[in-house]
Amino acid sequence: MSTPRWLRRAGTPRLEFGADYNPDQWPRAVWDDDVRHMREAGVTIVSLAIFSWARLEPADGVFDFAWLDDAMDLLHANGILVDLATATASPPPWLTAAHPEILPVDRVGETIWPGGRQHWRPTSPVFRTYALRLVRAIADRYRDHPALTAWHVNNELGCHNVYDYSDDAATAFRSWLRDRYQTIEALNDAWATAFWSQRYTAWDEILPPRLAATYPNPGQQLDFKRFSSDALKDYLIAEREVLREITPEVPITTNFMVMGETSAMNYADWAAEVDFISNDHYRTPGARSADELSFSANLTGNIAGGRPWFLLEHSTSAVNWQPINLAKRPGEIERDSLLHVAHGADAVCFFQWRQSKGGAEKYHSAMLPHAGADSDLFRSVVALGSRLGELAPLAGTPRTPARAAIVFDWESWWAAELDSHPTDRLRYRQEAFDWYTAFLDLGIRADVVPLAADLSGYELVIAPILHVVPAALTARLTGYVEAGGHLVTTYFSGIVDENDHVWLGGYPGALRDLLGIRIEEFAPLLDDERAELDNGLTGSLWTDRLEVTAAEVEVLASYKTGDLDGRAAVTRRPVGAGSASYVSTRLGPEGLGVLLAELAARAGVTSDLPAELRGRVEVARRGDFRFVFNRTGEPVDISALSPAEPILTARGVAVLHA
Ligand code: GAL
Repeated sequence: MSTPRWLRRAGTPRLEFGADYNPDQWPRAVWDDDVRHMREAGVTIVSLAIFSWARLEPADGVFDFAWLDDAMDLLHANGILVDLATATASPPPWLTAAHPEILPVDRVGETIWPGGRQHWRPTSPVFRTYALRLVRAIADRYRDHPALTAWHVNNELGCHNVYDYSDDAATAFRSWLRDRYQTIEALNDAWATAFWSQRYTAWDEILPPRLAATYPNPGQQLDFKRFSSDALKDYLIAEREVLREITPEVPITTNFMVMGETSAMNYADWAAEVDFISNDHYRTPGARSADELSFSANLTGNIAGGRPWFLLEHSTSAVNWQPINLAKRPGEIERDSLLHVAHGADAVCFFQWRQSKGGAEKYHSAMLPHAGADSDLFRSVVALGSRLGELAPLAGTPRTPARAAIVFDWESWWAAELDSHPTDRLRYRQEAFDWYTAFLDLGIRADVVPLAADLSGYELVIAPILHVVPAALTARLTGYVEAGGHLVTTYFSGIVDENDHVWLGGYPGALRDLLGIRIEEFAPLLDDERAELDNGLTGSLWTDRLEVTAAEVEVLASYKTGDLDGRAAVTRRPVGAGSASYVSTRLGPEGLGVLLAELAARAGVTSDLPAELRGRVEVARRGDFRFVFNRTGEPVDISALSPAEPILTARGVAVLHA
């Protein structure tokens, strides 16, 4: 994003508000009702034609733009901007019938048949030819249309088709590997193929990690993850290049899925390929659902380098794809929307405008529900539109960086969760999220930043399960600590290099000297086992048989039960004005809260909230604004922050001038 471009539109800055709009699912008469209600709700932008390939190109090479011309004109006449999709997300039946070789194949060799959506191989040359022809036709058609404000490439690239094990994927994987390793000997070294007689003598012998008799080679698995993310990124670039050729001035985005356990796309690596970042977010049900939203929005904002980004999809109420789909409670639509805004979103959009009458997503909520405009849901949409209108001065303002950060790294996420490990229970994102919750509970703001982010401005950096540590990263982290930074890392960090080869001489090889500790053997715990610590905390999942090797290391907590009795569990090594700490067990959000209070205080990072509000509210800062979110289920007295409006209702949000 060296030259970030924002929406092509006139007028004063504002927060955009809208949805995916699918007029092609409805008779023409409904469209007038749509735009009337869009205006009532204050809708400013829609994403159009995302799944319209079959309508736009009803037969090979035959294009029908009449209905889309009409929709574009109607929206423009009503002052609504269009983030126009390239419509390539789901190929039409005539294409898959003529070219079944574009269909993805799973690891078992089963074809992923048409019938759902996104059934295309990211590396299929045939798919790409047809898709790029469509992109070109759409771009040529609408290049000068006044409603066109941004391009929406495909849709949620990789949502259903990221891991394709087809012959096309095999060919593309080999070519990706050649670029990476240059020689087959280098690949053999990286993949440690001396093991289990896996030595390759020619590139053509290499396959994606298809169903194997037992664990496929870990290097092959990790590289296949890297390759699969890169293959979709390459596809994104291919669409983008067509668009840039035809409309160089129109910005390009695609909707990321920074949410939950969606791990396959390395968005930190994709970020530079779009003009502005967009994200989709759907809440994970559970007690910490809003905190997870905050975590995702925070990470998205930092993937965007602190610049504003678009929330392209979330839900007004229930979704349709969870086992049990709960409606949102009163206040949640506004709370969720403003959490994204607080973390840098300059647009709040939903899937979708009008709730479908048929099809797989008919029970998914929308801005205009089945019940119609005379509904609480639509009234809450209208109220949200007006609240966003009041917040127009926020538009364009960057997130305000925090003093502490949690590092988030896709390579470690992938590598730490590979099979044939000390435990298969470890969850990378969960650990990072636990730390985030601990920060929220303490009322300390923390950024969630991609690994490549500049850490020098942070006084305290948590790098949970930083499993993959190439030599250059050791040097970088050491430099950060030596310059006075306070680094905290955890179990299963610093274990392997970029080839997933273990750093020898005792764990955590890459960070052993920096931390002043040495571990000879991992000691994961059974599901029902717990490890008691002498500071009253309890660990689960993992422990280490840890030795302290540097005299200056302080032991902040020791194990007090079992075979580890008396051994260090949490250590801190002072290094100049900085420090390097290690947490050898999973403490969960509550335990981490206790530990983090101490680590943060010693790093000089404390909450600026009055004691009675810590944990009860989340405070996020953006430009001159301070957002206060009620994290409890009850009203909270925030008079210390907001004397004029002292009561924050359950799920309420106050937006204050900082
Ligand atoms: C997204 C997708 C939308 C819609 C939505 C439902 O994954 O982009 O088209 O399916 O989920 O929650």
